[in-house]
Order: sequence, then structure tokens, then C-alpha cells
Amino acid sequence: MQKKERTLIIMKPDCLQRNLVGEVVGRFERKGLKIVGMKMTQLTDVLLEDHYSHHKDKPFFADLKKFMKSAPCVIMALQGVNAIKAIRIIVGPTKGHEADAGSIRGDLSMGVATNIVHASDSPEAAEAEINRFFNENEIFEYDKIDESFIFGE
Ligand code: CMP
Repeated sequence: MQKKERTLIIMKPDCLQRNLVGEVVGRFERKGLKIVGMKMTQLTDVLLEDHYSHHKDKPFFADLKKFMKSAPCVIMALQGVNAIKAIRIIVGPTKGHEADAGSIRGDLSMGVATNIVHASDSPEAAEAEINRFFNENEIFEYDKIDESFIFGE
């Protein structure tokens, strides 16, 4: 049996300000990923200091926090077989101006902080990030009729 993974996506303030939420959600849906959680939320210092704790000593940390609080974010939990790695490829590397065309950042971003989305980078991070941003009752389990056509056996 193939192992389904869940991962966290944050559509950042630049994504909302540039009217790209539908474009980004559509790319994940077209790939065949299942939306198992989705909400709009205003991030706080407490959440950001936890989420970006590995960046807390970096010179850009204060500006990153300020930017991430500058508008609400739309947060999604996505599920699929091998979802974490597949989504990192769809998203592209951190710097939009260096990302390959075809990826979300490569097609839609020139920035570094303003790189449209955050995506979890490992199974451990995905679990911690989903628990950080969603309550248990905000994550849904449901059957989807296209899964065998998307993932095969
Ligand atoms: P993200 O995938 O959300 O993970 C950490 C974020 O820090 C990254 O995307 C960027 O938005 C931001 N970041 C990383 N490096 C820099 C940098 N040099 N200057 C500003 N922001 C950065």
C-alpha cells in the first residue's frame, strides 16, 4: 500500500495581495492533491517565532515576521502519496528569481521573503506544522473518487 503524506502550505501575504490564491490552489488541485484542511488566518508573533524558530538569529528574521503579519494568510493541509517531495518540486526553491519556470515560485515570484508560498520540507516538519496551524477538528478525512486514477495502485 502506498504511503499517504500530509503537508502544510501557507499562502503568504504577497499571494493574497497579488490575487494569486486561486492560481496556487488550482495548481495543487490539478496535480491531484487532496485538500484536507483550509482556512484564512492572521499570523501572530508567537506562531511565527515557533514556525520560523530555525531562522530566529538570521538578519532577515524581523522583516520576515513583519511581512508575514502584513495581511492574512491562507493555510492549507494537502494530502497525497509522496506529497511532501512532489509539492516541494511544484513550489520551487526559496528565491523566486532563481526558481525554474513551471514551478509556482519560478512562474509567479521574483522575491525571497515574497516567494508566494511556504511548504513543509520533511515528514517531521509537516506533522509539526499541521499541528501548529490547525486544530484536530479542522483536518478532514473523506474519500475522493479520482484517487486510483491519480496515484495508481
Ligand atoms: P519559507 O519557505 O517560508 O521558509 C523560510 C522563509 O524565510 C523563506 O520561505 C523566505 O520567505 C524567508 N527567507 C529565507 N531567506 C531569506 C533572506 N535571505 N531574506 C529574506 N527572507 C528570507
